[in-house]
Amino acid sequence: MLEIIDAKQHPPTEEQARAFARLISADEQRRWEYSSEGVSEPGAVYFFAVVLPARPDQEVLLAVDGQEVAGMVAFRRRPESYEQHCATLGIGVAKGYQRRGVGTKLFQAALDLAHRCQVKRLEIDCFSDNLRAIGLYRKMGFVEEGVRRQAVYKDGVYRDVLLMARWIGEED
Ligand SMILES: CC(C)(COP(=O)(O)OP(=O)(O)OC[C@H]1O[C@@H](n2cnc3c(N)ncnc32)[C@H](O)[C@@H]1OP(=O)(O)O)[C@@H](O)C(=O)NCCC(=O)NCCS
Repeated sequence: MLEIIDAKQHPPTEEQARAFARLISADEQRRWEYSSEGVSEPGAVYFFAVVLPARPDQEVLLAVDGQEVAGMVAFRRRPESYEQHCATLGIGVAKGYQRRGVGTKLFQAALDLAHRCQVKRLEIDCFSDNLRAIGLYRKMGFVEEGVRRQAVYKDGVYRDVLLMARWIGEED
């Protein structure tokens, strides 16, 4: 059964950390990432054991299916004091689990986490031709705020990045 875990409060097993590395290093994910580099399995084990616990500004939620990792959301608060109410999200769902509501569940868990952390504004960005991601973000109430034209150079091409955000604080 699929379960969403907060990787800081419930650290993944070594097997799950390795599965996380395979998820985010898969061609399917790297195609939509700005950087083409993946993460090694030992690198992911170290990240969850040492790096993440030492980062107060960063959280990771994992959708786990036993020892398999179906998806992840990375949540990072902005560092500057005047932006502490803002956090940035990044999401990925493994190919075999896509279109089954995992992304939606991860997003809902990220919204709950944001409320618990008193975050009021969530931001997310993606390549402007990533229609699946844009569909998910719209469904979760995010709106387009602008485009950083030709902002990312990848595989020999300058690509546009779409900025989206959602206000989750109280209204004026
Ligand atoms: C984008 C992504 C996270 C969506 O995850 P998912 O678990 O498949 O999403 P869900 O099943 O919860 O679907 C939520 C919504 O996303 C949109 N969506 C998802 N897959 C889609 C597809 N193949 N075509 C069109 N829209 C799609 C739809 O709006 C969908 O809502 P609906 O089911 O009511 O139509 C997943 O496709 C993915 O990991 N893609 C590769 C990595 C990536 O693009 N990451 C984000 C940018 S870095």
